[in-house]
Amino acid sequence: MSPPLRILGIETSCDETAASVVLRDDEGGGRILGDVVLSQLEEHSAYGGVVPEIAARAHVEALDALIAEALLRAGVTLREIDAIAATSGPGLIGGLIVGLMTGKAIARATGKPLYAVNHLEGHALTARLTDGLSFPYLMLLVSGGHTQLILVKGVGRYERWGTTIDDALGEAFDKTAKLLGLPYPGGPAVERAARAGDPERFDFPRPLVGDARLDFSFSGLKTAVRQAAQALEPVTDKDIADICASFQRAISRTLKDRVGRGLKRFKAEFAAAGEAAHPALVVAGGVAANEMLRTTLQSLCDALGFRFVAPPLALCTDNAAMIAWAGAERLAAGLPADGLDAAPRSRWPLDSEAQALIGSGKRGAKA
Ligand code: KG4
Ligand code: ZN
Repeated sequence: MSPPLRILGIETSCDETAASVVLRDDEGGGRILGDVVLSQLEEHSAYGGVVPEIAARAHVEALDALIAEALLRAGVTLREIDAIAATSGPGLIGGLIVGLMTGKAIARATGKPLYAVNHLEGHALTARLTDGLSFPYLMLLVSGGHTQLILVKGVGRYERWGTTIDDALGEAFDKTAKLLGLPYPGGPAVERAARAGDPERFDFPRPLVGDARLDFSFSGLKTAVRQAAQALEPVTDKDIADICASFQRAISRTLKDRVGRGLKRFKAEFAAAGEAAHPALVVAGGVAANEMLRTTLQSLCDALGFRFVAPPLALCTDNAAMIAWAGAERLAAGLPADGLDAAPRSRWPLDSEAQALIGSGKRGAKA
């Protein structure tokens, strides 16, 4: 048991500037008191992707006002905050510097402890804030920068079971959209186009299906999409719809195999030993908005006796509530705060034991 905690969270690792105040009650329950997110989508859309320099400048311009707004909505002053949690990696270094330096300045001025939080830990612990999930559980993180299957054993205790060896899943959606002439960000555009399409028309590859490891690969799929589109030149709307539907079907098959293997491994390691009476799979990241992905994961979980937990979309995508919550969990678990010398880290695997995979995380900035 730990006293109620109120934590200020700051998130600036990519293209969302966010601030939040979260309460952790003495029984470990969480409540978001104030939460603001400012998306930079418009600033970047003309470039078809996030431009680091533009992102960093936008964070500088917005962050102070957003922190004030989050505190106002929460109805608390800085004096009433117990600690500050700021994302210090992984992500775009310019943005990380802005958020972490701001967190340090507030910590210094108020004398409160600072937690330099790993952005991935924020995603990993969100399901405890939203659904009060108990350890251990499995998390699938699918965003523009990451595709990882992570075993969440406890606060600060993570094992990366699988990762992408090339593109992240959101990146595969974005690149596919780009080469079909669909707008950025590509995920929602591909999903929309796929609705009218025939998922059987193209038999796209499903890389690594059947592989004993739990890793992912999506660049071959993207290449196959390019070849299909080039062979049809000029592509019609019907062709685009069919390509998108077939692309999503290949992804669904891939996830079923890869994540299915992960769930079976989890069962063998924990549920069988009586350690996870109600095994659960949590999804996080922007691609969690995708209906096909949710349906695939839900039916997989139903078939294997898992609870499927999909936090509200605003908490699946980047936000500061998850960072504040991770800080609260660290504080409540008695983990030490970080010093004012904490450094931002553009790369920072959640599982320090995990081997870097060759070719992975090329974009590596977004989580
Ligand atoms: O977690 P997120 O908001 O941010 C970063 O990675 O920074 O994820 C964004 C990614 C983008 O690649 C976007 O195309 C993808 O999530 N995405 C989707 C959908 N909505 C967003 N992918 C597939 N279907 C969607 N409906
Ligand atoms: Zn993220």
